[in-house]
Amino acid sequence: MNGLVSRFQDRFGQAPGILVNAPSRINLIGDHIDYCGGHVLPMAIRGGTTVLSSDNGSDLVNVFTERFDDRVSLEIRPDHSAGFYGDWRDYVAGVISLLSSRYRLQGMDLYVTQSSGTAGLSTSASFCLALAKTLAPRVDHVALAKICQQVEHEYAGVQCGIMDQMSIAIGGVICLDCQNLDWREADSNLDDMVFVVMDTGKERTLAGSAYNDRAHELLQVARVLGLQGIDSLVTATDSAFLREYLRNRFTHVTCEEKRVQSAYQALQHRDWSAFGHLMNESHASLRDNYEVSCAELDTMVDLALDCPGVVGARMTGGGFGGCAIALSERRTVDDWMPQVACTYEQRTSLRPHLFLAEPSRGLTLTELSQG
Ligand code: GLA
Repeated sequence: MNGLVSRFQDRFGQAPGILVNAPSRINLIGDHIDYCGGHVLPMAIRGGTTVLSSDNGSDLVNVFTERFDDRVSLEIRPDHSAGFYGDWRDYVAGVISLLSSRYRLQGMDLYVTQSSGTAGLSTSASFCLALAKTLAPRVDHVALAKICQQVEHEYAGVQCGIMDQMSIAIGGVICLDCQNLDWREADSNLDDMVFVVMDTGKERTLAGSAYNDRAHELLQVARVLGLQGIDSLVTATDSAFLREYLRNRFTHVTCEEKRVQSAYQALQHRDWSAFGHLMNESHASLRDNYEVSCAELDTMVDLALDCPGVVGARMTGGGFGGCAIALSERRTVDDWMPQVACTYEQRTSLRPHLFLAEPSRGLTLTELSQG
Protein backbone atom coordinates (compact mmCIF):
# COMPACT_ATOMS: atom_id res chain seq x y z
CA MET A 1 0.00 0.00 0.00
CA ASN A 2 2.80 2.44 0.89
CA GLY A 3 4.49 1.66 -2.41
CA LEU A 4 1.27 2.42 -4.22
CA VAL A 5 0.89 5.75 -2.43
CA SER A 6 4.40 6.79 -3.42
CA ARG A 7 3.82 5.74 -7.02
CA PHE A 8 0.69 7.93 -7.01
CA GLN A 9 2.71 10.82 -5.57
CA ASP A 10 5.53 10.38 -8.09
CA ARG A 11 3.09 10.47 -10.97
CA PHE A 12 0.71 13.21 -9.88
CA GLY A 13 2.83 15.31 -7.48
CA GLN A 14 0.28 15.20 -4.66
CA ALA A 15 -0.98 12.74 -2.03
CA PRO A 16 -3.99 10.52 -2.78
CA GLY A 17 -7.13 11.26 -0.77
CA ILE A 18 -9.30 8.25 -1.54
CA LEU A 19 -8.87 4.54 -2.15
CA VAL A 20 -11.55 2.54 -3.94
CA ASN A 21 -11.58 -1.23 -4.36
CA ALA A 22 -13.83 -3.18 -6.72
CA PRO A 23 -13.51 -7.00 -6.42
CA SER A 24 -13.58 -9.60 -9.20
CA ARG A 25 -16.31 -12.23 -9.40
CA ILE A 26 -16.88 -15.85 -10.22
CA ASN A 27 -20.31 -17.15 -11.04
CA LEU A 28 -21.18 -20.29 -9.07
CA ILE A 29 -24.06 -21.18 -11.39
CA GLY A 30 -26.49 -19.53 -13.81
CA ASP A 31 -24.55 -18.51 -16.89
CA HIS A 32 -25.96 -16.78 -19.96
CA ILE A 33 -29.31 -16.17 -18.35
CA ASP A 34 -28.79 -12.73 -16.83
CA TYR A 35 -29.66 -11.04 -20.13
CA CYS A 36 -32.91 -12.95 -20.44
CA GLY A 37 -34.33 -12.26 -17.01
CA GLY A 38 -32.90 -15.21 -15.08
CA HIS A 39 -31.48 -15.73 -11.60
CA VAL A 40 -27.72 -16.02 -11.12
CA LEU A 41 -25.52 -16.96 -8.17
CA PRO A 42 -22.25 -15.01 -8.34
CA MET A 43 -19.59 -14.66 -5.66
CA ALA A 44 -17.43 -11.52 -5.45
CA ILE A 45 -13.81 -12.57 -4.91
CA ARG A 46 -10.66 -10.82 -3.75
CA GLY A 47 -8.50 -9.15 -6.33
CA GLY A 48 -10.06 -6.89 -8.91
CA THR A 49 -9.28 -3.20 -9.19
CA THR A 50 -7.81 -0.66 -6.78
CA VAL A 51 -7.90 3.07 -7.55
CA LEU A 52 -6.09 5.78 -5.62
CA SER A 53 -7.30 9.28 -6.39
CA SER A 54 -7.27 12.97 -5.57
CA ASP A 55 -9.14 16.03 -6.79
CA ASN A 56 -7.03 18.05 -9.20
CA GLY A 57 -9.04 21.29 -9.39
CA SER A 58 -9.40 21.06 -13.20
CA ASP A 59 -12.09 19.80 -15.53
CA LEU A 60 -9.94 16.82 -16.55
CA VAL A 61 -9.94 13.24 -15.38
CA ASN A 62 -6.40 11.87 -15.62
CA VAL A 63 -6.09 8.09 -15.39
CA PHE A 64 -2.91 6.03 -15.24
CA THR A 65 -3.12 2.23 -15.27
CA GLU A 66 -0.25 0.00 -14.22
CA ARG A 67 -1.77 -2.92 -16.09
CA PHE A 68 -1.15 -1.35 -19.50
CA ASP A 69 1.48 1.14 -18.32
CA ASP A 70 -0.57 3.76 -20.10
CA ARG A 71 -2.47 6.94 -19.34
CA VAL A 72 -5.31 9.07 -20.65
CA SER A 73 -6.64 12.56 -19.88
CA LEU A 74 -10.26 13.21 -20.70
CA GLU A 75 -12.50 16.23 -20.25
CA ILE A 76 -15.58 15.87 -18.11
CA ARG A 77 -18.31 15.91 -20.75
CA PRO A 78 -21.14 13.58 -21.72
CA ASP A 79 -20.35 13.10 -25.38
CA HIS A 80 -17.08 11.20 -25.75
CA SER A 81 -17.32 9.01 -28.86
CA ALA A 82 -17.84 5.28 -28.37
CA GLY A 83 -15.07 2.98 -29.58
CA PHE A 84 -12.75 5.90 -30.33
CA TYR A 85 -9.60 4.28 -28.91
CA GLY A 86 -10.26 0.58 -29.40
CA ASP A 87 -8.72 -0.24 -26.01
CA TRP A 88 -9.12 0.27 -22.23
CA ARG A 89 -9.51 4.03 -22.69
CA ASP A 90 -12.97 3.48 -24.21
CA TYR A 91 -14.18 2.32 -20.78
CA VAL A 92 -12.86 5.52 -19.20
CA ALA A 93 -14.58 7.60 -21.90
CA GLY A 94 -17.80 5.66 -21.34
CA VAL A 95 -17.80 5.99 -17.56
CA ILE A 96 -17.07 9.74 -17.73
CA SER A 97 -19.69 10.36 -20.43
CA LEU A 98 -22.51 8.41 -18.81
CA LEU A 99 -21.79 9.63 -15.28
CA SER A 100 -21.41 13.28 -16.29
CA SER A 101 -24.71 13.20 -18.18
CA ARG A 102 -26.40 12.48 -14.83
CA TYR A 103 -24.18 13.83 -12.07
CA ARG A 104 -21.82 16.71 -11.44
CA LEU A 105 -18.22 15.43 -11.49
CA GLN A 106 -14.93 17.03 -10.47
CA GLY A 107 -11.54 16.81 -12.13
CA MET A 108 -9.47 14.02 -10.55
CA ASP A 109 -6.20 12.13 -10.85
CA LEU A 110 -6.58 8.35 -10.72
CA TYR A 111 -3.90 5.67 -10.32
CA VAL A 112 -5.23 2.18 -11.15
CA THR A 113 -3.86 -1.27 -10.29
CA GLN A 114 -5.54 -4.56 -11.18
CA SER A 115 -4.91 -8.11 -10.02
CA SER A 116 -2.92 -10.06 -12.60
CA GLY A 117 -4.86 -10.34 -15.85
CA THR A 118 -7.06 -13.38 -15.27
CA ALA A 119 -9.52 -13.49 -18.14
CA GLY A 120 -13.17 -14.10 -17.46
CA LEU A 121 -13.39 -12.77 -13.93
CA SER A 122 -15.01 -9.53 -14.98
CA THR A 123 -11.92 -7.41 -15.27
CA SER A 124 -13.71 -4.74 -17.29
CA ALA A 125 -16.73 -4.57 -14.97
CA SER A 126 -14.40 -4.31 -11.98
CA PHE A 127 -12.41 -1.55 -13.72
CA CYS A 128 -15.55 0.42 -14.64
CA LEU A 129 -17.10 0.16 -11.20
CA ALA A 130 -13.88 1.24 -9.49
CA LEU A 131 -13.70 4.29 -11.79
CA ALA A 132 -17.38 5.09 -11.32
CA LYS A 133 -17.21 4.85 -7.52
CA THR A 134 -14.15 7.12 -7.50
CA LEU A 135 -15.77 9.75 -9.70
CA ALA A 136 -19.26 9.57 -8.14
CA PRO A 137 -18.67 8.35 -4.57
CA ARG A 138 -22.12 9.18 -3.24
CA VAL A 139 -24.14 7.48 -5.95
CA ASP A 140 -26.00 4.31 -4.96
CA HIS A 141 -24.18 1.10 -5.98
CA VAL A 142 -27.07 -0.33 -7.97
CA ALA A 143 -27.24 2.88 -10.03
CA LEU A 144 -23.48 2.58 -10.65
CA ALA A 145 -23.92 -1.06 -11.70
CA LYS A 146 -26.55 -0.07 -14.28
CA ILE A 147 -24.36 2.72 -15.66
CA CYS A 148 -21.37 0.38 -15.96
CA GLN A 149 -23.50 -2.19 -17.82
CA GLN A 150 -24.51 0.60 -20.22
CA VAL A 151 -20.82 1.42 -20.73
CA GLU A 152 -20.26 -2.19 -21.87
CA HIS A 153 -23.20 -1.94 -24.27
CA GLU A 154 -22.40 1.45 -25.75
CA TYR A 155 -18.64 1.82 -25.43
CA ALA A 156 -17.37 -1.78 -25.69
CA GLY A 157 -20.07 -3.25 -27.94
CA VAL A 158 -20.86 -6.16 -25.59
CA GLN A 159 -24.57 -6.73 -25.00
CA CYS A 160 -23.91 -8.22 -21.56
CA GLY A 161 -26.36 -8.73 -18.71
CA ILE A 162 -25.96 -7.12 -15.32
CA MET A 163 -24.62 -10.03 -13.25
CA ASP A 164 -20.98 -8.95 -13.14
CA GLN A 165 -21.68 -5.34 -12.23
CA MET A 166 -24.18 -6.25 -9.51
CA SER A 167 -21.95 -8.94 -8.01
CA ILE A 168 -19.04 -6.51 -7.79
CA ALA A 169 -21.21 -3.68 -6.47
CA ILE A 170 -22.90 -5.76 -3.74
CA GLY A 171 -20.21 -8.33 -2.82
CA GLY A 172 -20.40 -11.74 -1.08
CA VAL A 173 -22.54 -14.49 -2.62
CA ILE A 174 -25.88 -13.28 -3.94
CA CYS A 175 -28.80 -14.94 -5.63
CA LEU A 176 -29.76 -12.15 -8.02
CA ASP A 177 -33.02 -11.84 -9.91
CA CYS A 178 -31.86 -10.10 -13.09
CA GLN A 179 -35.38 -9.08 -14.03
CA ASN A 180 -36.04 -6.76 -11.11
CA LEU A 181 -32.56 -6.64 -9.49
CA ASP A 182 -33.77 -8.03 -6.17
CA TRP A 183 -31.21 -10.21 -4.46
CA ARG A 184 -30.89 -12.56 -1.50
CA GLU A 185 -27.56 -12.92 0.24
CA ALA A 186 -26.23 -16.44 0.68
CA ASP A 187 -23.69 -17.60 3.22
CA SER A 188 -20.20 -17.52 1.73
CA ASN A 189 -18.84 -19.75 4.51
CA LEU A 190 -18.57 -23.16 2.84
CA ASP A 191 -17.64 -25.34 5.84
CA ASP A 192 -14.68 -27.44 4.73
CA MET A 193 -15.37 -26.94 1.02
CA VAL A 194 -13.76 -24.41 -1.28
CA PHE A 195 -14.17 -23.04 -4.77
CA VAL A 196 -11.05 -23.28 -6.91
CA VAL A 197 -10.63 -20.88 -9.83
CA MET A 198 -9.00 -22.52 -12.86
CA ASP A 199 -7.85 -19.98 -15.42
CA THR A 200 -7.32 -21.79 -18.72
CA GLY A 201 -4.88 -19.17 -19.97
CA LYS A 202 -6.95 -18.97 -23.14
CA GLU A 203 -7.60 -15.35 -23.99
CA ARG A 204 -10.94 -14.27 -25.25
CA THR A 205 -12.80 -11.05 -25.65
CA LEU A 206 -16.54 -11.03 -25.32
CA ALA A 207 -17.04 -8.51 -28.13
CA GLY A 208 -15.04 -10.66 -30.54
CA SER A 209 -16.76 -13.88 -29.55
CA ALA A 210 -20.17 -15.28 -30.22
CA TYR A 211 -21.48 -13.69 -27.01
CA ASN A 212 -23.60 -11.13 -28.84
CA ASP A 213 -24.73 -13.82 -31.31
CA ARG A 214 -26.33 -15.73 -28.47
CA ALA A 215 -28.38 -12.71 -27.42
CA HIS A 216 -29.54 -12.37 -31.05
CA GLU A 217 -30.45 -16.03 -31.21
CA LEU A 218 -32.56 -15.66 -28.09
CA LEU A 219 -34.33 -12.75 -29.78
CA GLN A 220 -35.22 -15.12 -32.62
CA VAL A 221 -36.49 -17.63 -30.05
CA ALA A 222 -38.63 -14.92 -28.45
CA ARG A 223 -40.08 -13.93 -31.83
CA VAL A 224 -41.05 -17.49 -32.66
CA LEU A 225 -42.66 -17.84 -29.24
CA GLY A 226 -44.57 -14.59 -29.77
CA LEU A 227 -42.81 -12.75 -26.92
CA GLN A 228 -42.00 -9.03 -27.02
CA GLY A 229 -38.35 -9.46 -26.06
CA ILE A 230 -35.99 -11.77 -24.21
CA ASP A 231 -36.49 -10.20 -20.78
CA SER A 232 -38.55 -13.04 -19.37
CA LEU A 233 -37.50 -15.89 -21.64
CA VAL A 234 -36.30 -18.06 -18.76
CA THR A 235 -39.87 -18.70 -17.66
CA ALA A 236 -41.36 -19.41 -21.12
CA THR A 237 -42.47 -23.01 -21.68
CA ASP A 238 -43.38 -23.72 -25.30
CA SER A 239 -40.52 -24.73 -27.62
CA ALA A 240 -42.46 -26.81 -30.17
CA PHE A 241 -41.87 -24.59 -33.21
CA LEU A 242 -38.20 -23.89 -32.72
CA ARG A 243 -35.48 -25.12 -35.06
CA GLU A 244 -33.13 -27.55 -33.34
CA TYR A 245 -30.26 -25.22 -32.47
CA LEU A 246 -32.68 -22.57 -31.18
CA ARG A 247 -34.48 -25.21 -29.14
CA ASN A 248 -31.13 -26.13 -27.58
CA ARG A 249 -30.47 -22.50 -26.66
CA PHE A 250 -33.96 -22.29 -25.17
CA THR A 251 -33.45 -25.55 -23.24
CA HIS A 252 -30.29 -24.13 -21.72
CA VAL A 253 -31.87 -20.91 -20.46
CA THR A 254 -35.01 -22.52 -19.02
CA CYS A 255 -33.16 -25.44 -17.36
CA GLU A 256 -30.30 -23.27 -16.09
CA GLU A 257 -32.88 -21.05 -14.38
CA LYS A 258 -34.25 -24.10 -12.52
CA ARG A 259 -30.73 -25.24 -11.65
CA VAL A 260 -29.99 -21.87 -10.02
CA GLN A 261 -33.07 -22.18 -7.82
CA SER A 262 -32.03 -25.71 -6.78
CA ALA A 263 -28.41 -24.66 -6.27
CA TYR A 264 -29.47 -21.82 -3.98
CA GLN A 265 -31.42 -24.34 -1.87
CA ALA A 266 -28.45 -26.74 -1.87
CA LEU A 267 -26.20 -23.90 -0.69
CA GLN A 268 -28.62 -23.01 2.12
CA HIS A 269 -28.73 -26.67 3.20
CA ARG A 270 -25.00 -27.13 2.69
CA ASP A 271 -25.70 -30.06 0.42
CA TRP A 272 -22.40 -29.97 -1.47
CA SER A 273 -22.94 -33.11 -3.44
CA ALA A 274 -26.24 -31.73 -4.82
CA PHE A 275 -24.55 -28.41 -5.57
CA GLY A 276 -21.70 -30.15 -7.40
CA HIS A 277 -24.11 -32.23 -9.44
CA LEU A 278 -25.92 -29.07 -10.59
CA MET A 279 -22.59 -27.49 -11.56
CA ASN A 280 -21.80 -30.50 -13.74
CA GLU A 281 -25.19 -30.34 -15.42
CA SER A 282 -24.74 -26.63 -15.99
CA HIS A 283 -21.38 -27.17 -17.68
CA ALA A 284 -22.77 -29.88 -19.94
CA SER A 285 -25.61 -27.59 -21.00
CA LEU A 286 -23.31 -24.62 -21.67
CA ARG A 287 -21.12 -26.94 -23.74
CA ASP A 288 -23.78 -28.86 -25.67
CA ASN A 289 -26.92 -26.71 -25.75
CA TYR A 290 -25.59 -23.20 -25.58
CA GLU A 291 -22.22 -23.92 -27.22
CA VAL A 292 -20.16 -21.35 -25.35
CA SER A 293 -17.50 -23.65 -23.91
CA CYS A 294 -14.27 -24.59 -25.70
CA ALA A 295 -11.75 -27.46 -25.71
CA GLU A 296 -9.59 -25.81 -23.03
CA LEU A 297 -12.49 -25.25 -20.61
CA ASP A 298 -13.77 -28.80 -21.18
CA THR A 299 -10.29 -30.25 -20.59
CA MET A 300 -9.91 -28.31 -17.35
CA VAL A 301 -13.34 -29.32 -16.08
CA ASP A 302 -12.78 -33.00 -16.94
CA LEU A 303 -9.35 -33.07 -15.27
CA ALA A 304 -10.72 -31.49 -12.08
CA LEU A 305 -13.67 -33.87 -11.94
CA ASP A 306 -11.27 -36.83 -11.91
CA CYS A 307 -9.67 -35.64 -8.66
CA PRO A 308 -10.48 -36.89 -5.16
CA GLY A 309 -12.58 -34.42 -3.19
CA VAL A 310 -13.94 -32.54 -6.22
CA VAL A 311 -17.74 -32.67 -6.26
CA GLY A 312 -18.46 -30.41 -9.25
CA ALA A 313 -16.82 -28.27 -11.93
CA ARG A 314 -17.97 -25.92 -14.65
CA MET A 315 -16.96 -23.04 -16.85
CA THR A 316 -17.85 -19.69 -15.30
CA GLY A 317 -18.88 -16.44 -16.97
CA GLY A 318 -19.06 -15.80 -20.69
CA GLY A 319 -17.04 -18.81 -21.87
CA PHE A 320 -15.01 -19.26 -25.10
CA GLY A 321 -11.90 -19.32 -22.85
CA GLY A 322 -11.30 -17.64 -19.52
CA CYS A 323 -11.99 -19.53 -16.30
CA ALA A 324 -13.63 -22.64 -14.93
CA ILE A 325 -14.33 -23.32 -11.25
CA ALA A 326 -14.37 -26.49 -9.15
CA LEU A 327 -16.06 -27.16 -5.82
CA SER A 328 -13.72 -29.30 -3.75
CA GLU A 329 -13.02 -30.50 -0.24
CA ARG A 330 -10.42 -28.14 1.14
CA ARG A 331 -8.19 -30.96 2.42
CA THR A 332 -7.47 -32.33 -1.10
CA VAL A 333 -6.75 -29.14 -3.05
CA ASP A 334 -3.02 -28.97 -2.31
CA ASP A 335 -2.63 -32.39 -3.93
CA TRP A 336 -4.78 -32.02 -6.98
CA MET A 337 -4.30 -28.40 -8.04
CA PRO A 338 -0.63 -28.84 -9.15
CA GLN A 339 -1.45 -32.15 -10.84
CA VAL A 340 -4.32 -30.68 -12.84
CA ALA A 341 -2.19 -27.68 -13.79
CA CYS A 342 0.61 -29.94 -15.00
CA THR A 343 -1.58 -32.30 -17.05
CA TYR A 344 -3.55 -29.40 -18.50
CA GLU A 345 -0.36 -27.72 -19.67
CA GLN A 346 0.86 -30.96 -21.29
CA ARG A 347 -2.41 -31.35 -23.16
CA THR A 348 -2.97 -27.78 -24.31
CA SER A 349 0.48 -26.12 -24.23
CA LEU A 350 -1.15 -23.31 -22.29
CA ARG A 351 -0.02 -22.31 -18.81
CA PRO A 352 -3.02 -22.34 -16.45
CA HIS A 353 -3.39 -20.55 -13.15
CA LEU A 354 -5.26 -22.28 -10.32
CA PHE A 355 -6.06 -20.56 -7.05
CA LEU A 356 -8.58 -20.59 -4.21
CA ALA A 357 -11.51 -18.18 -4.53
CA GLU A 358 -11.67 -15.97 -1.47
CA PRO A 359 -15.03 -14.25 -0.99
CA SER A 360 -14.88 -10.47 -0.91
CA ARG A 361 -16.99 -7.49 0.05
CA GLY A 362 -18.38 -5.40 -2.78
CA LEU A 363 -17.28 -1.91 -3.80
CA THR A 364 -15.53 -0.07 -0.98
CA LEU A 365 -14.25 3.47 -0.53
CA THR A 366 -11.72 4.46 2.11
CA GLU A 367 -10.71 8.04 2.89
CA LEU A 368 -6.95 8.21 3.39
CA SER A 369 -5.64 10.40 6.16
CA GLN A 370 -3.31 13.00 4.77
CA GLY A 371 0.23 13.56 6.02
C1 GLA B 1 -20.31 -12.28 -19.07
C2 GLA B 1 -21.33 -11.15 -19.05
C3 GLA B 1 -22.44 -11.41 -18.02
C4 GLA B 1 -23.03 -12.81 -18.19
C5 GLA B 1 -21.92 -13.85 -18.31
C6 GLA B 1 -22.48 -15.21 -18.62
O1 GLA B 1 -19.61 -12.32 -17.87
O2 GLA B 1 -20.71 -9.92 -18.75
O3 GLA B 1 -23.44 -10.42 -18.11
O4 GLA B 1 -23.90 -12.86 -19.29
O5 GLA B 1 -20.96 -13.52 -19.29
O6 GLA B 1 -23.30 -15.64 -17.59
